[in-house]
Amino acid sequence: MNRCLGVCYYPEHWPESQWAEDAARMAELGLTYVRIGEFAWSRLEPQRGLYDFDWLKRAIDTLHGAGLKVVLGTPTATPPKWLVDEMPDMLPVGADGMRRGFGSRRHYDFSHDGYLEECKRITLALAKAFGAHPGVLAWQTDNEYDCHNTTLSYSPVAREGFQAWLQRKYQSPEALNRAWGNVFWSMEIADFSQIELPNLTVTEANPAHVMDFRRYASDMVVRFNKAQADIIRTYSPGRDVIHNFMGRTLTFDHFAVGADLDISSWDSYPLGFLEDRSDRGDAWKRNFARAGDPDFQAFHHDLYRATSKGRWWVMEQQPGPVNWAPHNPAPRDGMVRLWSWEAFAHGAETVSYFRWRQAPFAQEQMHAGLLRPDSVEAEGFAEAALVAAEIKTLNAELSADAGKADVAIVFDYASAWAWEIQPQGCEFDYFRLVFDIYRSMRKLGLSVDFVPASAADLEGYKLVSIPGLFAWNKELVEAIRCHDGALLIGPRSGSKTADFAIPENLPPSLPKDIIDVSVSRVESLRADMPVPVNEGGCFQFWREYLETGPGTEVIATTEDGVAAWVANGTRHYLGGWPDEDLMAHILTRLAGLAGLSGIAVTTLPDGVRLRRHGAHVFAFNYGNDSFDLASIGWNGTPLMGELTLAPSGLAVMPASGIKAT
Ligand code: GAL
Repeated sequence: MNRCLGVCYYPEHWPESQWAEDAARMAELGLTYVRIGEFAWSRLEPQRGLYDFDWLKRAIDTLHGAGLKVVLGTPTATPPKWLVDEMPDMLPVGADGMRRGFGSRRHYDFSHDGYLEECKRITLALAKAFGAHPGVLAWQTDNEYDCHNTTLSYSPVAREGFQAWLQRKYQSPEALNRAWGNVFWSMEIADFSQIELPNLTVTEANPAHVMDFRRYASDMVVRFNKAQADIIRTYSPGRDVIHNFMGRTLTFDHFAVGADLDISSWDSYPLGFLEDRSDRGDAWKRNFARAGDPDFQAFHHDLYRATSKGRWWVMEQQPGPVNWAPHNPAPRDGMVRLWSWEAFAHGAETVSYFRWRQAPFAQEQMHAGLLRPDSVEAEGFAEAALVAAEIKTLNAELSADAGKADVAIVFDYASAWAWEIQPQGCEFDYFRLVFDIYRSMRKLGLSVDFVPASAADLEGYKLVSIPGLFAWNKELVEAIRCHDGALLIGPRSGSKTADFAIPENLPPSLPKDIIDVSVSRVESLRADMPVPVNEGGCFQFWREYLETGPGTEVIATTEDGVAAWVANGTRHYLGGWPDEDLMAHILTRLAGLAGLSGIAVTTLPDGVRLRRHGAHVFAFNYGNDSFDLASIGWNGTPLMGELTLAPSGLAVMPASGIKAT
């Protein structure tokens, strides 16, 4: 695999006379891919049916002529004004019942059949016009599904669609009433047409009702994406279909969307995410303000790699200060290079910077590009050039892909919806729980894969964690039964049925031969009331009272003597949300049990992270201090970088040159 760089470019923003020079500079910089077109509908079809594709053809020809490969975006995230005026009910409606307006982007409702047809029409026209163009090597469907919270719409068309979806699922109102427990508070319905959307209720709506609405909304995103992917595949055979996902976005099932993609990609803005999407406090944010959270990017690299069977890109890479977070500092020198290499270390095929040149107008005029608005190179440019040169040297040395990790986490979007719908304690956020565990694994130097709860294949993983899984499915239970590595289940896993009810066989509701334990009671805890566990560390936010059957070993108890962490052989159940100390302790023990001692199971500082890539290991320093890699067993000369890892530094070493510490 040839690792490549790319950039996002908007020819429609610049005079045509500038395109050729831009293209030549991109090629000279060492870029391979250029993504264009994803917001250009008003220029591609200024009036209904009046297509103006000539400029796009000239833009593609220019880029292609310079030796660049084009990723062509479908422009469906920005429907033009004439279209919105024709069908104003395509605009989404917020949970507050207010219709959102025209004038920014993503102003459409996934449930709207009429808009879906319009998207198919423009996609078809573009695919017919450019599908066979030798310069077009890939397509991007739409742009960032759910950006600006646009998965959920509480519109009349969504209500109709939801009713039909429920009818297909339940067949009869009685079955729906039973599944949802509608007898509670007299919520029973006699006909599917009586179903309302779960917003604007006096107090919380029935969680089963909300859960189905979330499933429905996710299905609508899948439907929307598939409609475009199918057309592109027909008229542009052999080209990759890509979508660009976002960070910490859980409103739709990315595995289900990914099933219709050739390549998953995501948009990585480390500094914006730290400010905007991190659960950590101010001290942490200040410490990493110019580097980003050391695990956030890696988490998404690993998660999205799993959504399209391994092939993935970073479609948008932050190159300098962004415009949309509460504060928008500049990256520390070297971080743009580090972020790019970190993506490659996790198996990315391409890293594409957003954007080529900073726009002097409109919403994102304060967002840096590789070039300043006056076309002079901005700070990120030189780092991209360095990465381009380094790739040339290293491409042949590195394995084709990252390879399978030793450790896996089962990740499930429906579980994120469930705990958002009924958290039971305000800190109980699924992403936060999984991310805490992921961070603890990485602090020990482990490399991690994610696997979906549906079709879970745990084969080959030495250690698997299944945290906070809402409901079991048969395949996963079987996969657990067959798994011979170490397993960490819980907290809160298997605590509901798929219908959002407490299972008859109390949580974790697993067959007794897998592990004989049940949760007799749960409580959520204020952040300032941790419960100490006798092995060290505490439960925070959430704890369970466990009852064990014969054959189940109690490994640790809470200070009041209640079973907290139990096991049946290598299958462990954890009855609470562990703090960092407890998690480190548990993982160290399980890693030992799983025979993971041969690799660097070591404790890394907050800012230093490792990633195994085939026969090599990468090290990255997000921290503000240097770190001596010799202290964790690295010796000899790294393929790239130094054993003393400076802030923003990275190093690559053959795994054979690293001794277990
Ligand atoms: C992304 C989006 C881009 C641009 C960028 C700015 O979310 O896909 O179009 O808005 O953010 O950081």
